[in-house]
Amino acid sequence: GRSSVSETSSADLVIVANRLPVDRIVDADGEVRWQTSPGGLVTALEPVIRAARGAWVGWPGSADVALDPFEVDGMTLIPMTLSASDVELYYEGFSNDTIWPLYHDVIAPPRYRRIWWEAYERVNRRFAEAAAAAVAPGGTVWVHDYQLQLVPRLVRELRPDVTIGYFHHIPFPAYGLYSQLPWRRQVLDGLLGADVIGFQRVADAGNFLRAVRRQLPYPTNKSRVIVTDASGMQRSVTAKPFPISIDVAEYQQIAQRPEVIARAAEIRQELGNPRAILLGVDRLDYTKGIRHRLKAFGELLQDGQLSVTDVALVQVASPSRERVAAYMQLRDEIELTVGRINGVFDTTGHTAIRYLHHSYPRDEMVALYLAADVMLVTALRDGMNLVAKEYVAVRGDTGGVLVLSEFAGAADQLQGALLINPHDIDGMKDAMMVAVNMPHADQTRRMRAMQRRLKRDDVAAWAEAFLQELHAHDRTPHADA
Ligand code: G6P
Repeated sequence: GRSSVSETSSADLVIVANRLPVDRIVDADGEVRWQTSPGGLVTALEPVIRAARGAWVGWPGSADVALDPFEVDGMTLIPMTLSASDVELYYEGFSNDTIWPLYHDVIAPPRYRRIWWEAYERVNRRFAEAAAAAVAPGGTVWVHDYQLQLVPRLVRELRPDVTIGYFHHIPFPAYGLYSQLPWRRQVLDGLLGADVIGFQRVADAGNFLRAVRRQLPYPTNKSRVIVTDASGMQRSVTAKPFPISIDVAEYQQIAQRPEVIARAAEIRQELGNPRAILLGVDRLDYTKGIRHRLKAFGELLQDGQLSVTDVALVQVASPSRERVAAYMQLRDEIELTVGRINGVFDTTGHTAIRYLHHSYPRDEMVALYLAADVMLVTALRDGMNLVAKEYVAVRGDTGGVLVLSEFAGAADQLQGALLINPHDIDGMKDAMMVAVNMPHADQTRRMRAMQRRLKRDDVAAWAEAFLQELHAHDRTPHADA
């Protein structure tokens, strides 16, 4: 239940993320609801912070909302107000039209605008102030993701007594791309305010360390950077990979509920009981490779290798960042492509692609995973991709095949998937056919091996590994040698 918190509590652990774990939604009739926020960050972190009974500083998802801190499920939520112009310049602009495309290998062109940068600095400062006010003496502040890269340094300036961690949920690009950023030094300096900087993949940590070596005068040694602060004191910063995961047990519990199992059977029925159901689940984002996936599927129908009477593709594309031009354009392209493919291949009784531009509650997602024989994760670039891990978590003896892009961080852990290069359309078509025709014994063998590893490497293990590194970190500053 929810209750309000009169004074800002002193929390030993404060999470700072752009979004709160819940979005404030106002219905047509003026009724206020709280709904789980989109994306992998919240999926991963929510159980961790609930268990730690910490505080979470973040934005409730719409402009000009001013709310007092409140409590929900043992967490203190500290809402940040973003004005309409903050949303436009800091969130849609610098975060999602500069950093997001640049860090995802410029799949869409990043735009570099000085007024966006100024808003990013301003809003990062406000998040840092809120975190500094909420954390107990000697406590821990854990900052999350690309929207808040300046916060570690700003919190350190305000609260030199606290331990500061930063986790980067998305890729960190190769230096040749990173160096385009007009504020490349300021961003590195902001991140280096942390004691420990976590990345998804070995390559992300390597790219970051290379950028530091090229742009700043600080010596590095393996995963360590020796930073000299303005006062001349030195301290060390660790930059290492900590691949994120999901609450595996929770997904498995949902998958065992009779009503979820019944719903999965109903979905198969609704789709006309095809021989194979293929599934894609993504935020509608150009990094996810949805167009490449649709192209491959359309060609398989065209070649006659697949037919709508025996396969169906369900594509869930949840609405995302809808006022950013690149996202509007992507939506138009995908809807055009879906319409064309369905127009050619649908029959009165069967549809080629069931396209769903919605977001769904977790139970419905699990029912879809249970109904799907083949899960398609074909991202062109993705920090981790937790959908891939969710699918593996809920499949066991029922088998199922995961087709997974090697450009998603999850490929480093889910070696039993059919790994593909989504730019290679023929290769992706071949993998889709192998998946549709894979013998059941092979499916379960691969699935069980992936599940075993995933159960061990769940989100609790991830948080524990990060926080342990953070607390073991030597924070004592020392004079320049
Ligand atoms: C990704 C990012 C998160 C972000 C989420 C949803 O998972 O790593 O930081 O919150 O997408 O995007 P949105 O812009 O709706 O917060």
